[in-house]
Amino acid sequence: MKAIILIGAPGSGKGTTAEGIKAATGYIHVATGDMLREAVARGSSVGKAAESYMKQGTLVPDEVIIELVEERLDEGAPADCYMFDGFPRTQRQAELLDSSLEKRSGELANVFYLDAPRELVISRLTGRRTCRECGTIFHVVNIPPKKEGICDLCGGELYVRPDDKEDTIIRRLEVFHSQTGGLISYYEAKGVLARIDAAQPKEEIVGQAVSLMRAR
Ligand code: AP5
Repeated sequence: MKAIILIGAPGSGKGTTAEGIKAATGYIHVATGDMLREAVARGSSVGKAAESYMKQGTLVPDEVIIELVEERLDEGAPADCYMFDGFPRTQRQAELLDSSLEKRSGELANVFYLDAPRELVISRLTGRRTCRECGTIFHVVNIPPKKEGICDLCGGELYVRPDDKEDTIIRRLEVFHSQTGGLISYYEAKGVLARIDAAQPKEEIVGQAVSLMRAR
């Protein structure tokens, strides 16, 4: 088993970059935010436990997240390659991922930190539109759909995420800096971290990440 991680502030482009890396490499995309939104939509017990934290822009408790990720890994095969997007987000999640990989004889190959200035992530999040059906991510200016409000890929309805309101965005950014930012030095110390300038076009970012993955 092999794993890579995408770390970055809300709106730095983790989901968008993950779509491109998946298309180029076939890595399995594990996005805890998407898994939680699906759980909320289904009204499952995980969804009920997570909903209020997500609405406020704070982190869902580690126990809930770790159980979700472990279940997902248990469904896979030993040779699978995973790309974590939005996980880990705390020191505890990072340490539990280390143990989980060790237990499965897995390797953490790369961690990509998508480095983006604050003004950029705010403008990206306020313009984001996401497909309700297939989850493809657009932006009203940067990556617009061919037809307003409609997904180019599946024709689904595009919606604004409830946590993309300005006050919630500000809270999510604070939470990133206080609870997740420390993981950058954690992975730097392990020698697996690469910083990527997230202000570049999607194709550049994906190209850099994929060449670093192939170089390892
Ligand atoms: P999550 O869904 O993970 O949200 P996030 O980390 O806040 O990140 P986003 O999805 O908002 O942004 P992104 O970096 O993926 O950017 P995107 O590609 O969409 O988490 C949501 C919530 O769930 C959390 O607040 C928390 O409550 C909970 N949660 C999730 N995981 C958890 C965990 N591990 N522990 C605890 N709680 C957890 O891009 C943004 C916009 O920019 C789009 O419009 C896109 O089109 C545009 N764009 C992207 N890249 C480019 C580019 N290169 N050029 C131009 N435009 C671009």
